[in-house]
Amino acid sequence: MKSKTVFYCTECGNESPKWSGRCSACGAWNTMVEQVERSTKGGRKIPTVVAVKASPITDINTSDEIRFSTGMRELDRVLGGGAVKGSLVLVGGAPGIGKSTLMLQICRQLGEFAKVLYVSGEESAHQIKLRAQRLNAESENLYVLSETCLGNLMESVNAEAPDVLIVDSIQTLYNEELDSPAGGVGQVKDCTMALMHLAKSRNITVFVIGHVNKEGSIAGPKVLEHMVDCVLYFEGDQHMTYRILRAAKNRFGATNEIGVFEMMDHGLKEVENPSEMLLSGRPEDAPGTCVTCVMEGARPVLAEVQALIAPASGSNPRRTSNGFDYNRAAMLLAVLEKRGGLKVSQCDAYLNIIGGLTLDEPAADLAAVVAIASSYLDKTVPSSMAAMGEVGLSGEIRSISHLEQRLSEVQRLGFTKCMVPASRSREIKPLPHLELLPVKNVADALRHLVHG
Ligand code: TYD
Ligand code: MG
Repeated sequence: MKSKTVFYCTECGNESPKWSGRCSACGAWNTMVEQVERSTKGGRKIPTVVAVKASPITDINTSDEIRFSTGMRELDRVLGGGAVKGSLVLVGGAPGIGKSTLMLQICRQLGEFAKVLYVSGEESAHQIKLRAQRLNAESENLYVLSETCLGNLMESVNAEAPDVLIVDSIQTLYNEELDSPAGGVGQVKDCTMALMHLAKSRNITVFVIGHVNKEGSIAGPKVLEHMVDCVLYFEGDQHMTYRILRAAKNRFGATNEIGVFEMMDHGLKEVENPSEMLLSGRPEDAPGTCVTCVMEGARPVLAEVQALIAPASGSNPRRTSNGFDYNRAAMLLAVLEKRGGLKVSQCDAYLNIIGGLTLDEPAADLAAVVAIASSYLDKTVPSSMAAMGEVGLSGEIRSISHLEQRLSEVQRLGFTKCMVPASRSREIKPLPHLELLPVKNVADALRHLVHG
């Protein structure tokens, strides 16, 4: 058996034939680890293609791509309209975010037409049973195995011949033929490759759970992302109940769809109307809050921006922002001071996005400016008013993308007025019951705020 030594960076997964103290790709120190890679063993490597012949694109049959519903519409949506048979989907997310819950929850529905094997290296069969009972996920077609060894997993797949395989998690799985610890880059990569091969050769749909580390990559090996068919990230604030599922990569569909869930006592509930949920409990007639519409993938979602501006207690005003870029908030405060004539530089300023949402779109600027001004002037923003637009350094309100889609969401949720960039207001088709308030600059926005 031939073996060659390879070094991997545990941060970025970069491979190198030589060890070095610093990774040449990502520049991280002391992250190169040795990995003995065996070139042939047990025939698990992807076999060479038998007939090497290219075919005209018009002759390629796409109907062999078989999709099936997972029973969760939000998950189907992110997958591009259901799971594809023989594909490998990586479900990433921080520990405790709800990955195991999501996967176990789809088992009952899948069990109606498919045989599912759930392999967990994190929990015992007993624990899985208890959780499945709680989630009402039990099915005669759901087989459970508590196992961390890749060889045993393969054996079980041979014995059970499942249609769907769920592996929880890739970090606990290890190949006994490699002498590195489970969770290491080499192991994670090798096991994923084996599962990928399994998916393709047996036409099994494989879901693999992967924990994400602090930096946001799936525990070091970004390598996994390019190996698999589909990468989904499960995100959300652990203290908040709602979770967003996003596709970072999808070989069988677009990546601009998101799925929204809420974590309840009995598992995850699909949220078909995220805007409604984010706006629930909104204070009526309180100054310092303004609603905007952001694009979460291809989906418009309404979000509430809250600001609190109070005279600074010391000589250094305090600034915090939650869910809104700090530097962007500082810039908006400066624009308000200079172009809007509000003396906010002497004030403490707190900016918060309700629901643990993070707004990283400039389209939310105008709502932030309106919320800040509303708090400073102690003037309520009418609860039926929303605002969207990017704010430039000279205080001008600039155009934003997907304006029509955003406006229909605003209208759907019963808003009757919306501030929009003046440059675009003429080209927008009028929407019933929604009055557009064109604003050219920050001063215009303040005028609407003061005069209603
Ligand atoms: P889990 O799916 O175990 O997370 P992961 O697999 O991503 O590490 O979810 C764990 C969290 O979800 C835990 O903090 C408890 C909470 N939870 C609920 O609130 N309700 C439920 O019905 C379940 C199963 C979990
Ligand atoms: Mg788990």
